[in-house]
Amino acid sequence: MSERSGPKTVVFGVTGGIAAYKAVEVCRRLVDAGVHVVPVLTAGAERFVAKTTFSALASEPVQSSLFDEASPIPHTLLARRADLVVVAPATADFLARYAAGTAGDLLGATLLATRAPVLVCPAMHTEMWEHPSVQENLATLRRRGVEVVPPEAGALAAGDVGVGRLAEPAAIVEAALGLLGAHGDLAGHRVAVSAGGTREPIDPVRHLSNRSSGKQGHALARAALRRGAEVTLVTTVASSLPSHPRLSVVRVDTAAEMEAVMAVEAEKADVIVMAAAVADFRPVAIAPSKLTKDQGIPELVLEKTPDILAGLAARRRPGQVIVGFAAETDEPLARARRKRAAKAVDLMVVNDVSAPGVGFDYDTNAVTIVSAFEDREVPLTSKAVVADTVLDQVVELLADGGPEPSPEGH
Ligand code: CTP
Repeated sequence: MSERSGPKTVVFGVTGGIAAYKAVEVCRRLVDAGVHVVPVLTAGAERFVAKTTFSALASEPVQSSLFDEASPIPHTLLARRADLVVVAPATADFLARYAAGTAGDLLGATLLATRAPVLVCPAMHTEMWEHPSVQENLATLRRRGVEVVPPEAGALAAGDVGVGRLAEPAAIVEAALGLLGAHGDLAGHRVAVSAGGTREPIDPVRHLSNRSSGKQGHALARAALRRGAEVTLVTTVASSLPSHPRLSVVRVDTAAEMEAVMAVEAEKADVIVMAAAVADFRPVAIAPSKLTKDQGIPELVLEKTPDILAGLAARRRPGQVIVGFAAETDEPLARARRKRAAKAVDLMVVNDVSAPGVGFDYDTNAVTIVSAFEDREVPLTSKAVVADTVLDQVVELLADGGPEPSPEGH
């Protein structure tokens, strides 16, 4: 994994299913796309395809054993070299072993040792695909951040037809290149995203906070990574993203901590997205020890927190694109337009958090993206789609050479 320049390295795992013959095509297309492909075949795969085929097509010879290669630790070397691990086809047996974390062969051990993103492409008979144990293993892997290109419906081995056929090589290659960020429209850009509600301490055990889950911010960071950006996620809640060579995560609690980290990030970032719900007020003084009932009802004296977003916009570097978020319950559009102009940001993404399925803990959101020129509505959808729609507009602004001065009155 690396800051290395030069071609990206994909460790390409092939497991033992009939679709292994299609993996030959995936391998060839990855090489054609300029990727350095290191093939790893399981013992099962070798029953379906010859090592020689992959050794001839890939960037280096096939590796298949934990023990008989030149190095005593081939799995850790492979794990470190990988910018991405792709497993195609992934059999039901492989998914079970990977979900259980077994390391009995080179591919399993490499997958445990790597910190690179992983893409699995299952292929099997429909009955096996639909079996709860396969689906649960896949859900476990997804929860751990493994990316999946699901199988398609079509002709299977032995004349059967149904869901389970390995996805088309073109789709697998596109997903792999997306994960490598090789062709992403944010490749070469640095994006700083804040996420979650800040916590402003009252005493050593209590704080003031809000209902933000951080999910929309995390979805933005994930989408920016997939589109090739170098991403820093500044978050008050544990990151839900798998580790990735282009991702740094900074955990913060308070508005003051977030302000300090974002100020440093802003010096390098081309894009700043303040998706965090920054507390507007904090206690003036933090009690040094726990407040107890016998001291009476405490009187909290509050002060305003710094407006991080407005501060970043005031110190904006030329060409930098700045995005704010607003969670509203009344007159969302009018308020968002006013906030966008007052804070001098390019986009203000507003949601009406009183609507069902919108904002806070949901995985869905409905927003309007307010710019100086238009209001773009995104009806109720996943936070992932909202993230990509916001980034589409960011990419447009970057392509135009950065923000334009606002026309009057919007
Ligand atoms: N924000 C910030 N620092 C703060 C408060 C808010 O950076 N102290 C950012 C948020 O991350 C968000 C945007 O400003 O991107 C809008 O926040 P909001 O609290 O809705 O704006 P306010 O100007 O505080 O307006 P309101 O009076 O509605 O609270």
